[in-house]
Amino acid sequence: MSRTLFVTTALPYANGSFHIGHIMEYIQADIWVRAMRMAGHTVHFVCADDTHGAPVMLRAESEGITPQALVARYAQERPAYLNGFHIEFDHWHSTDSPENVELSQDIYRQLRAAGLIDTRTIEQFYDPVKQMFLPDRYIKGECPHCHAKEQYGDACEVCSTVYSPTELIEPYSTLSGVRPELRSSEHFFFRLSDPRCVEFLRQWTSAKTTQGMPRLQSEVLGKAREWLGDDDNETSLNDWDISRDAPYFGIEIPDAPGKYFYVWLDAPVGYLASLKAYCKLKNLDFEALIDPASDTEQIHFIGKDIVYFHTLFWPATLHFSGRKVPDQINVHGFITVSGQKMSKSRGTGISPLRYLDIGMDAEWLRYYLAAKLNSHVEDIDFNPEDFLLRVNSDLVGKYINIASRAATFISRHFDGQLAYTGDTQILQKHWDDVANHVRDLFEKREYGRAIRDIMAQADIINQDFDAAKPWLLAKGFQQASAQDKAKLQDICSVAIAGFKALSVMLAPVLPTLATRIAQELFNQSRDFVWDDVRELPTQIAPFKHLLQRVTPDMMEALFEPEPEEPAAVPGGEEIAPTIKIDDFMKIDLRIARIVQCEAVEGSTKLLRLTLDVGEGQTREVLSGIKDAYKPEDLVDRLTVVVANLSPRKMKFGTSQGMVLAAGHADEAVDAGIYLLDPDSGAQPGMRVR
Ligand code: 2FM
Ligand code: ZN
Repeated sequence: MSRTLFVTTALPYANGSFHIGHIMEYIQADIWVRAMRMAGHTVHFVCADDTHGAPVMLRAESEGITPQALVARYAQERPAYLNGFHIEFDHWHSTDSPENVELSQDIYRQLRAAGLIDTRTIEQFYDPVKQMFLPDRYIKGECPHCHAKEQYGDACEVCSTVYSPTELIEPYSTLSGVRPELRSSEHFFFRLSDPRCVEFLRQWTSAKTTQGMPRLQSEVLGKAREWLGDDDNETSLNDWDISRDAPYFGIEIPDAPGKYFYVWLDAPVGYLASLKAYCKLKNLDFEALIDPASDTEQIHFIGKDIVYFHTLFWPATLHFSGRKVPDQINVHGFITVSGQKMSKSRGTGISPLRYLDIGMDAEWLRYYLAAKLNSHVEDIDFNPEDFLLRVNSDLVGKYINIASRAATFISRHFDGQLAYTGDTQILQKHWDDVANHVRDLFEKREYGRAIRDIMAQADIINQDFDAAKPWLLAKGFQQASAQDKAKLQDICSVAIAGFKALSVMLAPVLPTLATRIAQELFNQSRDFVWDDVRELPTQIAPFKHLLQRVTPDMMEALFEPEPEEPAAVPGGEEIAPTIKIDDFMKIDLRIARIVQCEAVEGSTKLLRLTLDVGEGQTREVLSGIKDAYKPEDLVDRLTVVVANLSPRKMKFGTSQGMVLAAGHADEAVDAGIYLLDPDSGAQPGMRVR
């Protein structure tokens, strides 16, 4: 039976770049979607930017741009990641869209009509300078419990006490530095504690999906039950504050001037908005897909930090606004790197773009993550040695190796023709059974077990191949008996049939490689589907190299801390303390001609400049201006160099000086980088003072 699936990943906040955690979630969902499509199911796989909220608004304000411009800037970098890691959403939308405004406001009106919206006056900290109510994370002060200074408004990072911002000692606004004052304001609440909600959620969380699968993983269900209570234990649900006062970047609440939906109200609605926009593009019937009576399965992939929103608020808002509820919430853990939690500032994370920039294959990462992922809410660890080992010895050494060995004999001696002497039905049945099992594991999101089973089959194929010693049969091939020739052909054909089956099973994980194998080796113009395992191949094209090994150099480059930017000078910050003219004169600035310029291989930031500084010989300078300039455009340009800077040893070589460029002081602010340019007439070697 063909199913229709509406699949989403969590909508990422629009004020940051993707990190490896996003990529992991998208890969997990993408593998699942591909596996389901290969089974003939229809999947609508969508996502969107989560644009609203105070952080986006304040960040945009501090950069002097509109929130929309900030969102657009990050939106424009998304495709590099998604295409780079072979993640194929059908549609990527935005919560800052007409569809989302309409849907969010409709849902709100329906909840209000159902009697589930309350208003209440609450007291909150207000920043009199910024003239806005302050979210907890913009208030700091001394912990009322352990007296640690500089603690956030919601919890102490030192003693873990949770409190409300009004309990902080000496609170101050991190936006203006002033002490916030208490002010009251009317807020809108979604009545989650209403007995109807509690009853609905108890039933919804425990129900099975139409496929007989649990709706929530056991550990997630356990959490939900704690929140929801049961007949003996009272529920601990609180009503949910869904409004924020202007100024706020968000969606206006109908009939309530100056009030906006809290970002978490309209964010999940963005799932529907994205689907709606997609349906419009594709001429699909959106209403039919999300009708409560529709048999579309609605499946959300999310991280463990946002379970509360997806297992309580979201199904309740959908249900009580008369909409279809989610069928399944698939929760994953976090990704650590060498056992360490990710932290941008400490740089322990893996930069997804650096991974791609240094030429690492996206499908290595997909394979490695698949090998580690399971259906539980467990953190997984990226371990460099383990990564190298699994890719090189499993993927290349076991799997690819089968084809490279067997195909060579077939091409050389049998003109690409395969032939089997044994019972082909047994062989077909074997692969059918294995693939059915593996397909089932993918559907249950037990990717690690699927990969283990696939690799166990690769081991068997390799062992059988070795045990049959085909190289002995191939040795005196011309003189060999017809029987021996047939035997050689059979050994290799069986191995290649196995390779094909493995390729089909790995296709959700390694989509690009599988496409190449289908096309280049098996002359098949369409991508693999699960049923393809049943068909034993009869012919192959000559084997072409399929997959590179990971090199230790690559792993080193992946973890190398980014070199400091020698070229960026401060800007957009306070002027440095005064110096004497003698101090300045110590710096020998010279006019330089860029005689050669090239990208530094393995670096995402650096260009290697060969400079003529009038010394009768050239110097090499590494400069972090790759984002801003194409190497060929710099050749022959004049610029200014700090000529007496002591040489700096960097990962990619020694930099003998530093070229001057203007840029914003805060690296996170992309205001561009501008190389200094002397007026015409200046000559290499002239002193700048
Ligand atoms: O936690 C986050 O990154 C949120 N932006 C996720 C939103 S998921 C959905 F509800 F939109
Ligand atoms: Zn404390």
